[in-house]
Amino acid sequence: MKLFDRPLTISLSPNLEKDDILLALSVLLNLRHWQHGNHIKQAENWFKEYFKTKEVFSFNSGRSALYFILKAFGIEKDDEVIIQAFTCVAVPEPLIWLGAKPIYADIDQSLNIDPGLLEKLITPKTRVIIVQHTFGVPANINAIKKITRKYNLRLIEDCCHALGAEYENKKTGTFGDAAFFSFGRDKVVSSVFGGMAIFPKKYKKIYSYAPRELYGQIRMPVRKWILKQLLHPLIFSLVLPLYNLGLGKLILALALKMGIIVKPLEEAELSGGHPAHFPALLPNALAVMIVNQLKKLERFNRHRQTLATVYAHKLKDSVKIKLPAANSGAIYLRYNIFHPQANNLLKLFKEKEKIILGNWYKSIIDPEGVNKGKVGYTPHLCKNAEEAAELSLNLPTCPTLKKEQAEKIADLLLKYENH
Ligand SMILES: Cc1ncc(COP(=O)(O)O)c(C=O)c1O
Repeated sequence: MKLFDRPLTISLSPNLEKDDILLALSVLLNLRHWQHGNHIKQAENWFKEYFKTKEVFSFNSGRSALYFILKAFGIEKDDEVIIQAFTCVAVPEPLIWLGAKPIYADIDQSLNIDPGLLEKLITPKTRVIIVQHTFGVPANINAIKKITRKYNLRLIEDCCHALGAEYENKKTGTFGDAAFFSFGRDKVVSSVFGGMAIFPKKYKKIYSYAPRELYGQIRMPVRKWILKQLLHPLIFSLVLPLYNLGLGKLILALALKMGIIVKPLEEAELSGGHPAHFPALLPNALAVMIVNQLKKLERFNRHRQTLATVYAHKLKDSVKIKLPAANSGAIYLRYNIFHPQANNLLKLFKEKEKIILGNWYKSIIDPEGVNKGKVGYTPHLCKNAEEAAELSLNLPTCPTLKKEQAEKIADLLLKYENH
């Protein structure tokens, strides 16, 4: 690895390319169009076209989009919403903000809701099932749809990892009553923060509140918040080339400490707290960034699939490593493997090889530090999810990772698999 190369880490704005950095700079200088401008419509139109629906609403995060969908469906205090364990705290958060109760369902080998375990969780208070396509691997939608139909429940697809994934040759996001997407820094395409809600069906039948009216009540984020997100790619243009020298890490820590940029989740959210900037609309400044990234979606996803094939091929004979089942519709936002000493491997890679592999959902309501009681999870409730979290280790598939680097990671995994 050369000194100024991007560090081999699964995170640190993995979708950020040179053109995105230059674009952020030009948007930063175009102060008049930070909040309003025609890129918001362009981003929404991309989704309208891609999903063949008119009902598309842009937001400043996946969390805001989910909040809006739940509100449109009339979810309120004491309603129960089924979500899976092995998720991000940003999923139960909007339910808690509405006073609703997250009911955690256990998962199957695909790391998605196990439809066979769902029915026993349904009570007279259940209103919604949220189906997450974890790491871009589609859930068993047909089986889940049978249940939502039988009990007359709303089905929401969490496509935050799965923009462009397919189930039975149809795009994920088109199966439920609504779907939401995230443009967070580690997601399929990124504008640091951002999200979209779509409703594939005509709304009159299923909504308690007309979405257009509801949408009209949601605010634009303040300029200070937008500025921080625009500074993110610019700070990272310094952090990434200087990371291997140690200086990049320092710049990152300082920028965070000084509040120049922000983490994806605020401290208060780890206990279900409700920051003032959610829900909010997608500002034009971030819409410019996401419109640019959406042009790259196909390339990004093909690359992810190629790297998944590299890992699958290289690791197929390993005795200790268990691979995800091959799935031609998956986009593999991350390639998750199981290993009995996954935690050791994460440590070894970091210390000996300076490679940071992924620990998404090592804490089953991620990230580490989430107060599980406050977000309605009781220990040992979802045994499969807890076991998966213990054994999981995610391999990078990001657009900025070269095929040779993925091969190197696979070779090192084989070297260390017995440690
Ligand atoms: C599965 C899943 N759903 C929803 C979200 C929320 O997205 P956002 O961070 O844009 O609010 C996340 C965020 O990490 C996620 O991993």
